[in-house]
This record gives sequence, structure tokens and C-alpha cells, in this order.
Amino acid sequence: MSKKKIFILGGSGFVGGHLVRRLSADGHQVTVATRYAPAARHLAIVPGVRILQCRPYDLESLTAAVEGHDMVINLVGILNERGFGGKGFRRAHVELVEKIIIACEAARVAQMIQMSSINAGEGSSHYLVTRGQGEELVRQAQSNGLMDTAIFRPSTIFGPDDSFLNRFATLLKISPVLPLARPTARFAPVYVGDVVEAFSRVIAAGQLAGETYELCGSEVWSLKELVAWLRDQLGLKRLVVGLPDPIGRLQGLTFNLVPGKPFSSDNFKSLLLDSVCVDNGFLRLGIEPWGMGELAPTWLGGKSGGKLQASRDQGD
Ligand SMILES: NC(=O)c1ccc[n+]([C@@H]2O[C@H](COP(=O)([O-])OP(=O)(O)OC[C@H]3O[C@@H](n4cnc5c(N)ncnc54)[C@H](OP(=O)(O)O)[C@@H]3O)[C@@H](O)[C@H]2O)c1
Repeated sequence: MSKKKIFILGGSGFVGGHLVRRLSADGHQVTVATRYAPAARHLAIVPGVRILQCRPYDLESLTAAVEGHDMVINLVGILNERGFGGKGFRRAHVELVEKIIIACEAARVAQMIQMSSINAGEGSSHYLVTRGQGEELVRQAQSNGLMDTAIFRPSTIFGPDDSFLNRFATLLKISPVLPLARPTARFAPVYVGDVVEAFSRVIAAGQLAGETYELCGSEVWSLKELVAWLRDQLGLKRLVVGLPDPIGRLQGLTFNLVPGKPFSSDNFKSLLLDSVCVDNGFLRLGIEPWGMGELAPTWLGGKSGGKLQASRDQGD
């Protein structure tokens, strides 16, 4: 496998932490670009990793930063914006992608992997609409022959340090009743280790070839099933209540006003679509993905599922 110099934006976050370690173990040299260096401090001791504080929205600064790399991986994404109207989403999901492509062309960086999301370009949420616009820019760069690209579109990603299960776990611990908007929305939670395996294999193949990979775990859950299962894993006695859509919509409107927006009208709109795969890209990559119920109990403390037990039985 040829070793690459890889530049990662958004590498200080949840997926980035796992990906950076994996790329380092694969022998690549990794630059983690961050807006604030202390945010990536935990990665400074990983072999072959350099932390670089940079201003990603400043084209000159970005071009200088990507120079000398073989590939850019863009992990930047936001679930909520500060204000309203979609400006924050457009900045993070579209303007930044545009700048990355221009910077890569100027600095002759030939490859780019764009982290997107399942359902990008569908529905009416600013999140999904801008995700789709970002993907379109990457596809254009590929079809114009500017770059060799790939796009990943995961469902919700889980892992011991995720914000998905951990956020629900915190809510379950502090509240006797958990009211859930869009309780019937379906997810195929995907293990972060499988996601980074997909990155590793695509990079090892050498050519990204303009492919788009949807990434889903092996189990499909409704949101209510998932939260009730988590409650049971944590050994808590809590009531999980599914809200009808008019009340769920109202919950989004109310939480729009809470600092940090733990939930929002935009999240509600994203939840109107099921986060499940039509064409699971793991199959094309020869990866058999975990299901959440099989794997998460190993760190949640509940009972482990069938596949994990089978692996243990085989001495894996
Ligand atoms: N986690 C999931 O369940 C999930 C599911 C589907 C898709 N994804 C996508 O996968 C990617 C990685 O997810 P993650 O969970 O690792 O996200 P994360 O933990 O929130 O990390 C994202 C990183 O992006 C940077 N960032 C945040 N807001 C930014 C902004 N407005 N402008 C520029 N940079 C910004 C931050 O890095 P610095 O502060 O260091 O600059 C942050 O560490 C994202 O694109 C996300 O949308 C995630």
C-alpha cells in the first residue's frame, strides 16, 4: 500500500479521532487541521500526526496549509447552526467545500474524500439540503477532471465516545420521562470502527474513482426502539414517550431557542426521512458491518449480542 500525506479538516472530532489513529496505523502521514489547536491536543501523540491550526475559510491560508499533501479528507459538519435561515449550514457544508476544491487545485492536491450524510440532498432541512450541495461540488470537481474523489454517506455513527448514544444516555439518566420527536424514524446505526475501515480500504485502493458509499450498520431500529433499548442496557426505569408530529414539531420550535440547540426544527425536518441505506457501500468494500445491538453492549455494560459471542467462541 502506498503511504500518503493526508490533510484532514474536522479531524479533532469524534470520527476524526478514530480515523486519524487508523491512518497513522496504516503508515500514512496525517495533518490534522483545526481552527483551535488545543481541540486536537489528544491526537498530538499519535505517531506520524501533526496538528496544524489554520483558518479554513481563508482561501490563502487553506491553500498554503494543503500544499504538499496527496489527499484532503473533509470531516467538517454541523448538526445545528447558531442563527436561523441556513447561513451557518451553507458556510460549513457548501462554502468550505468550494474553498477546499479551489485550494486543492491551486496546490495540486489530487485526491479528496468528502464526509457527507445519508439522505444528503433530500428533504427540506438545511442540514440535508446543504449536504447535497456540498456533494454536488465534489462530483463536479470529479467530472471536470480536477480531482479524484469519493463521498461517504453514513447513517448515525455510534462508538464508545459518540455523541448519539451518549446524549440519549445522559438524558435518560437525568429525566424520569423522555419525550421523543419522530419516534418511528428509522436508523441503521453504523459503528465508527467500520466507518474508518471503509476509509482505510478506499485509500489503500489508490483510486477513489468518484464513488459514493452509503454506510449503514447491519440492524435497523426505530428511534423509540433504540432509546428504549438503551434505557434497558443502562438498567434505568424510565418512560420513553413517542410524540405525535405536531407536538414533535413544537418541541423543535421550543428547543430552537435553547442555547446550543440540543434539538431544533431543522433536526425535526431531517428526522422526517429514514436514515437507512438503499445501497450499503460496505458490501462493495468487502466489509461486514456490525449492528448496534451486537456491539454497543460491550461498553454500555449490558448483554453482548450474537455476532460478538460467535467471534469470542471462535477465539477472534
Ligand atoms: N457522528 C455521526 O453520527 C455522523 C453521521 C453522519 C455524518 N456525519 C458526518 O461526519 C463528519 C464527522 O462527524 P463527527 O461526529 O466526528 O463530528 P464532530 O465531532 O462534531 O467534529 C467535526 C469537526 O468539524 C470542525 N467544525 C465544526 N464546526 C465547524 C465549522 N462551522 N466550520 C469549520 N469546522 C467546523 C470541528 O473541528 P475544529 O474545531 O478542530 O476545527 C469539529 O471537531 C461530519 O461531517 C458529520 O456531519 C457524522
